Amino acid sequence: MDQTRLPREVVYRECHDERAVWEAIKTLQVRGAPAIGIAAAYGVCLGIKSAPDDEQAFFQRLDEVASYLASSRPTAVNLFWALDRMRRRAETLRGQPLDLIRKALLEEVRAIHEEDRALCHAIGRWGESLIEDRSGILTHCNAGGLATAEYGTALAVIYEAVAKGKRVHVFADETRPLLQGARLTAWELKAHGIPVTLICDNMAAEVMKEGKVQAVIVGADRIAANGDTANKIGTYGLAILARYHRIPFYVAAPSSTFDLQLSHGGLIPIEQRDPREVTSPFGIPIAPEGIDVYNPAFDVTPAELITAIICEKGVIRPVNKETIAAILGRALAG
Ligand code: MRU
Repeated sequence: MDQTRLPREVVYRECHDERAVWEAIKTLQVRGAPAIGIAAAYGVCLGIKSAPDDEQAFFQRLDEVASYLASSRPTAVNLFWALDRMRRRAETLRGQPLDLIRKALLEEVRAIHEEDRALCHAIGRWGESLIEDRSGILTHCNAGGLATAEYGTALAVIYEAVAKGKRVHVFADETRPLLQGARLTAWELKAHGIPVTLICDNMAAEVMKEGKVQAVIVGADRIAANGDTANKIGTYGLAILARYHRIPFYVAAPSSTFDLQLSHGGLIPIEQRDPREVTSPFGIPIAPEGIDVYNPAFDVTPAELITAIICEKGVIRPVNKETIAAILGRALAG
């Protein structure tokens, strides 16, 4: 689904080669950490369709395609995780007929896709227990079904709480500059019949002060070994506001979003995007021509501001290196 066209129209775009997939990721037609990992892995299958029938050249082409797709966006680690998984699967089959390797890679991406569905539902089940009946929940950007294989991460928690009969009211931050909250989260929740109120990003503090928010739940693009979490720009500010107002701040993400190679969030690469997204959102000029712009797509919330991280294996609380290693160790074992 081309997410840049939402909420005006539901349009599907077919990608027939890796270039189309790269462009779809770069331009946010497909977006959200798990979804871009899945899309990129399908991109690998498209890219090796025309690979030469010689093993060395085939593997070289596979490498080129994976590196090319990895260059689309730098922050969400799910992208690199999925591409690495495809590469590793191919490596285990070296020496086998190339058609068999192609088939195995298609099976691999289908497995990644299916697993993500299951992970999201598991996140929903764990997270639901943290939500009280009659809660106001604030979320940022879109961490819903649109951003994953299905169901979402932060929104999975909300869907599951509603499925359990809890009454919730969601406040969706519009999420400047690209309005994923207004265009996508509001659309998605409305489609599911979940009560949602759209607010501008700068209204979050007031809504909290008025006592309308009992929990903040967001997704993640990359979580460092110590729990520092990169997510859509504005998330860090929300975490500070939540701490001041004594509101729990939850991050919901699958284990594929953790990057245990990075000891802390300062090492997470942050994507800088085109200034025109700020000066001319959706083609409408709103700032003086030539104005200087800073447009980081993500920020990093320190672990100490995160009440808990909800992943498919359980709730990590408190958030630190040890508790993360313990849960992810379990994830690897189980
Ligand atoms: O730039 P985007 O729209 O890809 O940013 C997405 C987010 O920040 C999401 O919160 C994150 O990827 C989690 S999606 C389950």
